[in-house]
Amino acid sequence: MERENVKVLKQLPSSIYFWTLSVLAFAALFPASARAVDDVVRTESKGKARISQDQALTPPMGWNSWNAFQADIDEQKIQAIADAMVKSGMRDAGYDYLVLDDGWMAPERDKDGRLVADPRKFPSGMKAIGDYIHRQGLKFGIYQDRGKLTCQQLPGSFGHEQIDMEIFAKWGVDYIKMDSCFAESNGRYSSDDYAIYRKHIQATGRPMVLSISDFGNAAWAWGGKESAQLWRTSHDIYPWMGSVYNCAETSCGDRAIHPAFGGLGQFAGPGHWNDPDMLQVGNLKNLKADRKAIADRAHFSLWCMLAAPLMAGNDLRAMSKDVQEVLTAPEVIAVNQDKLGVQGYKVFIDGALEVYNKPLADGTTAVLLLNRGNKVEDITVSWDKIGLSGKQPVRDLLVTKGSRRFHSVVYGSATRSARASNA
Ligand code: GAL
Repeated sequence: MERENVKVLKQLPSSIYFWTLSVLAFAALFPASARAVDDVVRTESKGKARISQDQALTPPMGWNSWNAFQADIDEQKIQAIADAMVKSGMRDAGYDYLVLDDGWMAPERDKDGRLVADPRKFPSGMKAIGDYIHRQGLKFGIYQDRGKLTCQQLPGSFGHEQIDMEIFAKWGVDYIKMDSCFAESNGRYSSDDYAIYRKHIQATGRPMVLSISDFGNAAWAWGGKESAQLWRTSHDIYPWMGSVYNCAETSCGDRAIHPAFGGLGQFAGPGHWNDPDMLQVGNLKNLKADRKAIADRAHFSLWCMLAAPLMAGNDLRAMSKDVQEVLTAPEVIAVNQDKLGVQGYKVFIDGALEVYNKPLADGTTAVLLLNRGNKVEDITVSWDKIGLSGKQPVRDLLVTKGSRRFHSVVYGSATRSARASNA
């Protein structure tokens, strides 16, 4: 359909929160703002060559055990998750890392100082679980911490950086989430620490992705991209929308949190991503049943627009159809995985209403209309906010494939009839 501008009419509000959103793609767009961002991305890509990698050229996608299970993981559960990633279509939708978070290791290293799997939880050992993950066509991710202890007070990597990276490589690890609990006493800056891990990773010859997990301690500013492919921009995410929005806010920074969080989008690009933390899609609490799906879509669409790593965190063994549909929505994922690698940015804010724009490699742009408030409201996007003019084709990317179901009601301000046909 063609529009002179676009309005989204909200559905019924929930008592606590209400979100309605739509992701729309417009054809033939090269606004000046997109060109400016593109220049930044090209410059960033040159810098990235310093760690000489062609990894994570789009935001990493996968599943991580923490949000669903915390430290309560074991061999059987992880195997079942690997199976579920295949069966549910998650793997084929692009989620290829299966990351074991804190809690996999035994409380003591062995007599040679090597990390070992907790023998009660992973009796077959870490190489075996890695092999299982690989056999499912997935990649193996693992958690460690650059302090003496992990956040769960298990053995951390401080003082064992080299042998830990070597054993990870032997186990077939593809991705390392390196946390920062107890790291204050290392006597080193985080930039020193992560450079040490990068050096030892490179020495193994195994191209392991390094994820900086440091509660959002400004890795974008101290040059995290020289050592790692992604870095946290926030404190931990929790399964409620207030936390989701706080985490997003740090990554798309309008300085509401702190001036240092302004303009973080300029640091994201192919090979180096801002990470507002793992997804809570499917886990969100304090919502009425009929609001859950809307909240999940808002959370997921926001992460896709922000070019955030997509690490699902729900129990995939018991995933509802609604949640599965959100997490595997092909065109929304395509926005996240767009090869231009531009992080979407806010172009409009009016109280609880926000509009985000994300220029895409094919010259179109994706727009997210978000209502963070608790009452029904219309959002109008005027083309000048996203560098367009005239009539433009518009498409709702959340339309369920094969059905006429729209997830929000989209209509042009001048053509209310479209509302009826979409509803
Ligand atoms: C936190 C980290 C979480 C999780 C947890 C494990 O520091 O931010 O994502 O990894 O530790 O103990």
